[in-house]
Amino acid sequence: MRRSKRFEVLDQRPVNKDGYINEWPEMGFVAMKSPYDPKPSVRVENGQIVELDGKKREDFDFLDTFIADYAINIARAEQSMKISALDIAKMIVDIHVSRKEVLEVISGITPAKMTEVINELNVVELMMGMQKMRARKKPGNQAHITNLKDDPVQIAADAAEGALRGFAEEETTMGVARYAPLDAMGLLIGSQVGRPGVLTQCSSEEATELELGIRGLTTYAETLSVYGTEKVFIDGDDTPYSKAFLNSSYASRGLKVRFTSGSGSEVLMGSSEMKSMLYLECRCLYVTKGCGSQGIQNGSVSCIGIPGSVPAGIREVLGENLVAALLGLECASSNDQSFSNSDMRRTARTMLQFLPGTDFIFSGYAAEPNYDNMFAGSNFDAEDFDDYNVFQRDMQVDGGLRPVKEEDVIAVRNKAAKAVQAVFRQLGLAEVSDEQVDAITYAHGSKDTLPRDVSADLMSAEDVMKRGITGIDVVKALADSGFTDVAESVLSMLKQRVIGDYMQTAAILDSDFHVMSGVNTPNDYMGPGTGYRVEGKRWEEIKRIPHRINPMDI
Ligand code: 5AD
Ligand code: CA
Repeated sequence: MRRSKRFEVLDQRPVNKDGYINEWPEMGFVAMKSPYDPKPSVRVENGQIVELDGKKREDFDFLDTFIADYAINIARAEQSMKISALDIAKMIVDIHVSRKEVLEVISGITPAKMTEVINELNVVELMMGMQKMRARKKPGNQAHITNLKDDPVQIAADAAEGALRGFAEEETTMGVARYAPLDAMGLLIGSQVGRPGVLTQCSSEEATELELGIRGLTTYAETLSVYGTEKVFIDGDDTPYSKAFLNSSYASRGLKVRFTSGSGSEVLMGSSEMKSMLYLECRCLYVTKGCGSQGIQNGSVSCIGIPGSVPAGIREVLGENLVAALLGLECASSNDQSFSNSDMRRTARTMLQFLPGTDFIFSGYAAEPNYDNMFAGSNFDAEDFDDYNVFQRDMQVDGGLRPVKEEDVIAVRNKAAKAVQAVFRQLGLAEVSDEQVDAITYAHGSKDTLPRDVSADLMSAEDVMKRGITGIDVVKALADSGFTDVAESVLSMLKQRVIGDYMQTAAILDSDFHVMSGVNTPNDYMGPGTGYRVEGKRWEEIKRIPHRINPMDI
């Protein structure tokens, strides 16, 4: 066929390098509604749910049993299920119906009913719902802090910069798992240099992650993964009960915990039971609630290529974020793994959470260049900081970040690197040279830094675990080397573990270590003039992007 020049040009566009597939419900490639999704139903006998979404109790799998026993408000169930999905959907967007009233009605509905409710809402209505249902009044943001070398000093500097730029939480992970203790320490120290009160976590194998938490080298945990079918759960050597137990282990030591789930995981693991991605994710979120977790990181997360390939997949991703909020869970709303070659498409996808605001708009904005992202590439990274700051300014929206001055960034990067150098010296860990501190202070990424002595680092990492080094040892080392303010901040983070208020839904800390959560600063949006508004000092801050003309100077 003779080709049209127009089509030849279009074929070369980034958006046509992405993968798309027709709906195929038998294999789970269907976003919001599968012909095999169950019809909603509930029957309660003697205070026990004996029928759930068309299944009798004797036919329940372990997700059904767990959900029926722990995730549904049984006293409300029959009453809530009598309200039509359309009427519940209308309540969600009605500015005269409060978040509290919606939460109460929703507490009694089943996963299949929830799926129907979300199907009644178009994408703008889903955003309206999120604007009202988000737990915390003020939206927030979370960063990835990683690099190709697993260099703990670079992690500290990037964490300091990220904290200064506004991230309320920062997480790291490693290429070489054994680096975990050093990287967790780098992240903890660097974050407090950038902005006191930032929470940190180190995503690693479950036992290590728990131990780092118990020792006070991290201040929250996030990747407790749950799945929407029994088969996939079992493939991961888990059940809802084992996850509940792990959750309690963290909680018993005063650590903030959030679970992780998201559409597409069951498709990727080959066991979707022909159900829609939305229905399966509803099951995950009910399990999360039943486990007693305060929140979830969801919105497909690392499986975004799957919903991204089918019709209405990106609408579904916001839909599942909204389900989390409707269940009263904190929602860290993904915008995490990159899924598109098109800058327009990746930006469009992010607007769905950016515009209404979520508890954490990104559950992993890469605060390093793409090549340093050890979680796999992110939808936004360090090279997009200024674009993002301009979005906030253009639309007068609080996306959780702020413009910063180059000299301030250099200063906090340098201080963070020096603090890690001093702590490692005090604790007798791997050497950090002055040249390395200097390179990292001015670096964009690990291509600009010096090589680390990997075997010395790994021996030190092992030493940290063997010697039982804790957060308190880090505090002492900081204090003994003159970093008194950083020592005080790390100590204040550890105190939060004893106080426990930051375990409440959607909690973050301000620079004075005051908790802002869905409990003490709940979202009270009820239409124009209410809820969170970008104004005052925060608006002035957002306006001050680096590259702007001051007419008074001309
Ligand atoms: N479902 C469950 N867990 C997920 N993770 C990422 N995406 C999903 C998902 N869709 C978790 C995994 C991964 C970490 C980054 O987050 O545990 O290792
Ligand atoms: Ca995350």
